[in-house]
Amino acid sequence: MAEVTFDYGNLVEVEGGLRGDELDEARPRLREAVEELLGSPPGFMRLPKTGEYAEASVRVADEIRGSGATDFIHVGIGGSALGPMALQKALNHPFYNALSAETRRGPRIHFAENTDPNTLAAILGVADPTSTWVNLVTKSGSTAETMANFLAIRDWLVDALGNFGYQGRTVATTDPEEGFLKEIADREDLTVLPIPKDVGGRFSVLTPVGLLPAAVANLDVEALLAGAARCVDEVNEQRDEHPAVVGAAMHYLLDTTRGRNVRVMMTYADALERLAAWFVQLWAESLGKDGKGSTPHGAVGTTDQHSQVQLYMQGPQDKVVEIVEVEDHPRDLPIPEAYEDLEGVGYLGGHTMAELLNVECDATRKALTEAGRPNSTIKLGAVNEENLGYLLQALEVQTAIAGSLYGVNAFDQPGVEAGKQITYKRMGRPGY
Ligand code: PA5
Repeated sequence: MAEVTFDYGNLVEVEGGLRGDELDEARPRLREAVEELLGSPPGFMRLPKTGEYAEASVRVADEIRGSGATDFIHVGIGGSALGPMALQKALNHPFYNALSAETRRGPRIHFAENTDPNTLAAILGVADPTSTWVNLVTKSGSTAETMANFLAIRDWLVDALGNFGYQGRTVATTDPEEGFLKEIADREDLTVLPIPKDVGGRFSVLTPVGLLPAAVANLDVEALLAGAARCVDEVNEQRDEHPAVVGAAMHYLLDTTRGRNVRVMMTYADALERLAAWFVQLWAESLGKDGKGSTPHGAVGTTDQHSQVQLYMQGPQDKVVEIVEVEDHPRDLPIPEAYEDLEGVGYLGGHTMAELLNVECDATRKALTEAGRPNSTIKLGAVNEENLGYLLQALEVQTAIAGSLYGVNAFDQPGVEAGKQITYKRMGRPGY
């Protein structure tokens, strides 16, 4: 059973937070937003229940794993990369690629996201072209960064394997009907995994975009979808009482009535650092429109206690800190007893590393609360597929509801077009 809980007590009870009656006043509007969402559910709401393309993703992953692949390069950017990265970082061994092939039981996973030549050259330097599979992920089929990375990787594969070899080891994850990548896939007979038309990039982690790399790394795709499906069921049952939905109203009100326009997601687990990066994109690109939207920011505890918490505690009263806490960490280590005569060191012995991490998490929460700094907590019983599936889905629901409260379209991104047009022109794309 998914164990994901949301605690918003410190958004209401702290000095700088909301009053309970403000939430009551916002209730009718929230109810309307949730009815709107459930009355005509966007594509991402359907995915966990239908498991659409999950089977196809697992089938292709089995073929890749069965071929003895040493490397898998996932090429994509933004919504075509952040979800899969979040899953890999959360659920895989922290040094997955450095493990021996026997321990890993799957190919090394590389992400070619940015067009930084340093990264791509390094990936091509460590991967073995004779046993590499490539997954090209672009819904539009023409994102410049993805296509540039693809062209470089394609040459590298053709050099090693010839055209036939390249074609046999390349998957195109894209719009099933249109776009330049689809055209290339048709011409070259590449394996195609579809991204459903009604699911946008940043909401696509439970399509083949996230499912194929998850299955390649032997993650439990079924449990991931089951967790997300449970969230969908609960939203349908609880409607404006579901914590993801309530959270949308809280963040909306804290931004628009209190000027708390920075939303920090601080994950107390290194493994969840990319989850915050995924959420930052989801919230920013979905809501930052018409002069509206709060600014999401990712942080990691305890590391950023030594970097940003000073600002959160005593800087401008413009933030809401959302702590993501893990009850049972995948690994733990005892802290050995030593230097008992040194009071600043000896007290640590006999505790565990997980205990220290969680005590520091709680200490940050208490300190923020006492300082009148609104904060909330998402608690995961464990970092596993089911909980991750639940949380990803819940945050997508929250973002969609927030879009409705702000009165913006959460599913487009017109603001990124201008830069693309200038790039196309400068790089000589015909028609620009
Ligand atoms: O969320 C989004 O829609 C965007 O971030 C896209 O995922 C990103 O721009 C990449 O687009 P595409 O998948 O078309 O290459």
